[in-house]
Amino acid sequence: MINSENIIQQKANIPKLSLQCENIGANTTTIRSLDWERSRFDIEFGLHNGTTYNSFIIKGEKTAVIDTSHEKFSDTWIKLLVKQVNPKEIDYLIVSHTEPDHSGLISNLLDLNNNIEIIASKVAIQFLENQVHRPFKSTAIKTGAELSLGVNPSNGIKHRIEFISAPNLHWPDTIFSFDHATKILYTCDAFGLHYCTHELFDIHPELIAPDFRYYYDCLMGPNARSVLQALKRIKKFPQIETIAVGHGPLLKHNLELWLDNYANWSSQRSKGEGYAAICYISQYGSCDRLSQAIALGINKADAQVQLVDIRASDAQELSSLIGEANAVVVPTWTNHPDSELQSSIGTMLAALKPKQWVGVYESYGENDQPIDVIANQLRSLGQKEGFSPLRVKKSPDAKIFQQFEEAGADLGQLLNRKKNIANIKSFDGDLMKAMGRISGGLYVVTASQGIDNEKRQGAMIASWVSQASFNPPGLTVAVAKDRAIESLMQVGDRFVLNVLEENKYQKLFRQFLRRFPPGADRFKGIDLIDKAAKGGPVLVDALAYLDCVIQQRLETTDHWITYALVENGKISNLDAKTAVHHRKVGTSY
Ligand code: FEO
Repeated sequence: MINSENIIQQKANIPKLSLQCENIGANTTTIRSLDWERSRFDIEFGLHNGTTYNSFIIKGEKTAVIDTSHEKFSDTWIKLLVKQVNPKEIDYLIVSHTEPDHSGLISNLLDLNNNIEIIASKVAIQFLENQVHRPFKSTAIKTGAELSLGVNPSNGIKHRIEFISAPNLHWPDTIFSFDHATKILYTCDAFGLHYCTHELFDIHPELIAPDFRYYYDCLMGPNARSVLQALKRIKKFPQIETIAVGHGPLLKHNLELWLDNYANWSSQRSKGEGYAAICYISQYGSCDRLSQAIALGINKADAQVQLVDIRASDAQELSSLIGEANAVVVPTWTNHPDSELQSSIGTMLAALKPKQWVGVYESYGENDQPIDVIANQLRSLGQKEGFSPLRVKKSPDAKIFQQFEEAGADLGQLLNRKKNIANIKSFDGDLMKAMGRISGGLYVVTASQGIDNEKRQGAMIASWVSQASFNPPGLTVAVAKDRAIESLMQVGDRFVLNVLEENKYQKLFRQFLRRFPPGADRFKGIDLIDKAAKGGPVLVDALAYLDCVIQQRLETTDHWITYALVENGKISNLDAKTAVHHRKVGTSY
């Protein structure tokens, strides 16, 4: 039940930002900051359902707050918190992770009570020193550390909080907190999803599942090994009843499903021997976000990734992660590194092995070392270039993130090349010749999202297309997981199916079949009909087009089968036929 008195709307009738305050367990309250229309978050483009930033208050004899909110809630979050607890009576602020969507109001809270003791990982406390610019009381904790809040005087319940480190989920600073009294596990980013709703809990798993998966793919998948490590650590807690996430509905009614999802997806991504080590420098420029975009691309190509924070990893760990990797991706670093960072960079370079694939990207920090100097240095060490140096000349926008993701996918394909060839050779020849007799039409799928600098576009040749419903009209398109356009084809996204015409398709076929470098304009030199469809560009030379919106996605081993409703369509020549694609074998399109 929603208590409407507890919801503060910032603007009447335009609920772009609002707050929700609910009890979620004994002596435990959540304040959820509801950001209804956030359309982009980190590298996860095209959020359709907004997001939330969840914080919590636990009252024993002493009082702890877990995480704050995004600074865009500065006007309202503190006011609502003060209604729940006198700030002078807050003893502890548990900081699960220092990214600004959770730590944006720490300074505001310390303004009200500078005696609050911050409980966080050592790395988080270091990060906070740069964020809050004032002295604060703190205790650094590790896995196994406990915090007793004592007994709540009104009901005699004793709150004992136990911590575990959960590095890389999603920064190296992350901790989980488990309250033994309520059996609530607080995980911040991990197990979260960007889905804004007044529903406090996961009572409609089917509605939130696509966003839960997308969030995992973008933020957690690149750290699959760390996810498995965290899952192992939380097994020690007896019967978790609720996972109080930092984003989206809290997880309570389908815990087994969500935990199994994380375990299965992460095991899948951690299989195999080779991996790409994607190095980044936490809290330097846009290094973190850019490294994630590369990692997402590598994962899409079904290759393994290990994100490595150069600043937070110790020398031995750094050396072995780099030395054992099949590919290493290196960021530019500041011209004036501190001695600790300098030493870590030295360790990273010394650990490189000849013939590893390497890629270099700009961090867009304040004062990056020239990227060409670093690229030349790597070449001189005998490294093979996995992708051309990725340059960033302005604050990273959607196009730059798309370029980085595509570079990652290219590198992932390089890493998997031998395995994929071996797979094809292992297929039963007769069976695959028989599969090759499955034929389809020829189409170009196009998709476009955002405007101006945030505009992202994609296109691909498709032939695995089929009508799937009469009323309402619907169709399916199979999209390989490593296709660049796949990121633009999530549930709720739009696309256009351009139908190619028999005897008139060659130019378009050649254009869209070729391999594009990361970030390249797929439509250069192609005539388009302006604003004909909502989903993406319509090709002048197509026989027909269908404007589609995606309803569902079904996962197979290497493709997503995308079911979409067709909202609009037009044909240019009633007498013409669709181009048909005949194949010889079923091992390729
Ligand atoms: Fe929700 Fe990594 O912050």
